[in-house]
Amino acid sequence: MCGIFGYVTNKDEALGPILIEAAKRLTYRGYDSVGAATINNGKIDLRKDVGKVDVVAAKYNIAEMRGQRGITQLRWATFGEPSQVNSQPHLDSDGDMVGAHNGNVVNNVELREQFMAEGMTVRSQNDGETCVHAVERYINRGYQFIDAIRLAYGDLQGDYAFVIGRADDDKLYAFKKGSGMVVGLGEGFTCVSSDLPSILPLTRSVIRPQDGEIVTLWADKVEVRSVKDGKLIDRQPELVTETMDAVQKGGYPHFMLKEIHEQGQVARELLHLLDGSPDVAPLVEKMKNARHLYLIGCGTSYHAASVGAVYFAQLAGRAAIPVLAPQFIAQYAPAVNHDDVGIFVSQSGETKDVLNALEAAEKRGMACFGLANVVGSTLTRATSFCLPLCCGYEISVPATKTFTNQVVTFLYLAYRLAGMGPSTSLDDHSLRSGRHVLDSIPDLMEQTLSMVGPQIETIARDINEWNDMYCLGYGATYAIALEGALKLKEITYAHCEGMLSTEFKHGPLSAVSKGFPIVFAAGPNDVPLIISGINEVKVRGARTIVIAEEDARLRANGDDLVVLPKSDPQVNALLAVLPLQLLSYHMSVMRGFDPDFPRNLSKTLTVD
Ligand code: M6R
Repeated sequence: MCGIFGYVTNKDEALGPILIEAAKRLTYRGYDSVGAATINNGKIDLRKDVGKVDVVAAKYNIAEMRGQRGITQLRWATFGEPSQVNSQPHLDSDGDMVGAHNGNVVNNVELREQFMAEGMTVRSQNDGETCVHAVERYINRGYQFIDAIRLAYGDLQGDYAFVIGRADDDKLYAFKKGSGMVVGLGEGFTCVSSDLPSILPLTRSVIRPQDGEIVTLWADKVEVRSVKDGKLIDRQPELVTETMDAVQKGGYPHFMLKEIHEQGQVARELLHLLDGSPDVAPLVEKMKNARHLYLIGCGTSYHAASVGAVYFAQLAGRAAIPVLAPQFIAQYAPAVNHDDVGIFVSQSGETKDVLNALEAAEKRGMACFGLANVVGSTLTRATSFCLPLCCGYEISVPATKTFTNQVVTFLYLAYRLAGMGPSTSLDDHSLRSGRHVLDSIPDLMEQTLSMVGPQIETIARDINEWNDMYCLGYGATYAIALEGALKLKEITYAHCEGMLSTEFKHGPLSAVSKGFPIVFAAGPNDVPLIISGINEVKVRGARTIVIAEEDARLRANGDDLVVLPKSDPQVNALLAVLPLQLLSYHMSVMRGFDPDFPRNLSKTLTVD
């Protein structure tokens, strides 16, 4: 997730060290490139490149940069590979303005084309540059700076925060849509950033602008205006009291819990991005025409692929084969050819098992595409194109938000395979349900987390003494059960097996004793089947915890019913993973472990 920081002072200051320190405090968000710009007595100085803060700062001597206004940006690539030209900040065509953003402008491609047609100099593929040209467009048409910014806001679709300055102006300007942004007020300076950690060491007096507001920063004051009518808004500063550690974790005790709670928002951003992505239509076409379609990944990413295969069959009648990457090499690679399509799924884009499978597939001429969170990773560079997961940096080793965004991507692709277009509206009767289902996901995820939180904590306490348990599902919730079991194993160090509910009677049933915990994830169409499973184990003494929509039959049969909000069967499966993530998190913490960094595991597995 990119991060921005802007600083305005009334002195001629050594801004370089201030910008470097602010950039370092944004690094926890994840980044691949760094840049800094200062405006010094009407002249813009811009230095940027791919690499770590210390390395880029030393290479370009950022510490020596001086001026009255400064901007720094850490980039986490989404549009355009990590490269110097795609690094931020960006200049306008004539080098009179400089700006940087975080987030995603989803109509980036079409706006860039318009700007080029209007004669502007577009140097990169990056959507941060698009934000600068969006303002330039209206300056060229004769608007005052503040009005140009207001109009640019209307043109830029997506979720982002943006800061911009002009060489011949003593202020910085900032606005946001969807993403977070904080303004700081100090002695003789003001600043603006994507979040608090870069501001806190400078000042604890902050203003939090809302969507649809423009902030103007002078050295000694800020003004907040409405984008709509340009009128001033009265917004008084508040005092922040949290510690830096708490602030970095968004107020949560661990990154895992923060990332669990980010899932609704990142799903929202992903859906915007997919609607605007030029890569979706060609991918869907390839998938439609494929002889065989393989969905390949490891661990959590494999589980997402398995959910995806169920979605493709249920919604689009398209068979797909989910397969663990190393097994793909043994079982399918010898048989694939150029009529087959593979989607390689990975959070990191660096998992060696996945890259080995990709190599084997490419040798046989298979068409290979990717789905990855880290743009610029080996997978994104090695495939024809790779859809970004749009989650920002996932710090905790257990994957949470990247899993749900993988699943959301598959659900989106399933609806596109079924005929839904990127701009199908709710007026289009035949496809309106798909659009409606997708649009409802972010809110439903947020609703689920608030509905199940306290109950899951109680259940975690009740079953925490057990070091052996099962997690069962069927259909789309089968792979959700596998994922829940993996999360539990990964951070509680207990044994938890995920299994198809109907398989339990074929062996594991013998392990059941009094109080033995068994979790069922039950889709709304599978209730009778799950009830048989529940009763099979209950009569043998098991404690049954059922995750499902409200259902009198399940309530009567199970011991605990963890109620999900009402949704479509496919979304129900996605929602069912949230209580499982929370269960593993709480059990891990209750056992005294650190869920963010479980023993023996690492976030990226670059070995065979
Ligand atoms: O980066 P990837 O998605 O390719 O990683 C694959 C697995 O190593 C990963 O999903 C692992 O299972 C997670 N830590 C589970 O939370």
